[in-house]
Amino acid sequence: MTTSPESRSLIVVTGASTGMGAATARELAARGHHVLAGVRREADGAELASDRIRPVILDITSSDQIADLASLIEADGRPLRALVNNAGIAVNAPVEVLPIAEWRRQFDVNFFGHIEVTQALLPALLRSRGRVVMMSSLGGRLAQPTYGAYSGSKFALEAVSDSLRRELAPHGVTVAIVEPGAVRTEMVGRGGVTARRLSAGMTPEQDRRYGGLMHAILAQSEGFLRDGVDASAAAKTIADAATSRRPKTRYTIGRDAALLTRLARILPDRTLDRVLASALRPLHPER
Ligand SMILES: NC(=O)c1ccc[n+]([C@@H]2O[C@H](COP(=O)([O-])OP(=O)(O)OC[C@H]3O[C@@H](n4cnc5c(N)ncnc54)[C@H](OP(=O)(O)O)[C@@H]3O)[C@@H](O)[C@H]2O)c1
Repeated sequence: MTTSPESRSLIVVTGASTGMGAATARELAARGHHVLAGVRREADGAELASDRIRPVILDITSSDQIADLASLIEADGRPLRALVNNAGIAVNAPVEVLPIAEWRRQFDVNFFGHIEVTQALLPALLRSRGRVVMMSSLGGRLAQPTYGAYSGSKFALEAVSDSLRRELAPHGVTVAIVEPGAVRTEMVGRGGVTARRLSAGMTPEQDRRYGGLMHAILAQSEGFLRDGVDASAAAKTIADAATSRRPKTRYTIGRDAALLTRLARILPDRTLDRVLASALRPLHPER
C-alpha cells in the first residue's frame, strides 16, 4: 500500500488514448500520482492501465459519461488534485467552406466538453483546493488561415480560463493554461484526414480560391511531425502545470510557441499577417 502524498489524491486526464494525454497520464503515474485516464474505447484503456493509471470511459461530449466520472470520484473519496482538460480535435478549413455542423463539432469537443467536465468536477476541486489545467494551443493566441474553428475554440477556452482563474483564486482552486506549438502526436494525421475530406467537398470556385492555401497548410502541419516536440517531453510541462505548488498562469511548449505567442502580443496585425503569409508562400503548389 503506497502512502506518499502523491498517491493519496487523484488526477484526471481527458483524451488519454494517444498523444499528449497518454504521455501525461504516464508521466504523472511515474511521478507517483494516481491518474484517472479518460478514453473512449476499452482497448485504449487496456493499453494504459497500470498500478497508478485507471482508465475511465469518457467522451467529453457525453453528459452521462461526465456524470459517471463525477460519481466515481465522489465514491473514491480521495481528494481530486487536478483536472487536465486535454482532449481535442482539429477541424481545419476556410471559414467559407466549413459546414456549420463541423463548426459545432469542433466547439463541442474543444470548448463545451471542457466546460462541462470542469463544472462537474468543480465541487471536488473546491473541496481539495485543486487545479484545472486547460490545454489550449499556440492556436489559442494566433489564428492561422484555415484554423478559424480550431483557433476560435482555443481562443474561447483561453478567455474562459482567465475568467475561471479569477473566479476561483479566492477559493483556493488554481487554473493553468498550456499552449503547445507543434508536438508530434496523432493530431496532425487525424486533422489532415479531416482537412482533406473538407477540401474534397469544396466547389470548383472555392478550390480556385483556397486550394493552394489548403495545400500549403497541410504541408506546414506535416512539417510538425518532423520538427515538433516529442509528446513525452511535452508531458513533463503539462505534469508541472498540474502539480507545481505555485503554477504559472500560462505554459508554452516548444520554441515556436514561446516565440509566436510573444510576437502575436507585440506585432501589429498587418505585420503578423505578412509573417504568416511568407511562412506559407513556399509551401503553395506550383501554378
Ligand atoms: N499536437 C499538437 O501539435 C498540438 C498543438 C497545440 C495544442 N494541442 C492540443 O493538445 C491536446 C491533445 O492533442 P494531441 O496533440 O495529443 O492529439 P491526439 O493524439 O489526437 O489526442 C487527442 C485526444 O483527444 C481525444 N478525444 C477526441 N475527441 C474526444 C471526445 N469527444 N471526448 C474525449 N476525448 C476525445 C482523443 O481520443 P480518441 O483516440 O478516442 O479519438 C485523443 O485521446 C488537444 O487539446 C490539442 O488541441 C496539440
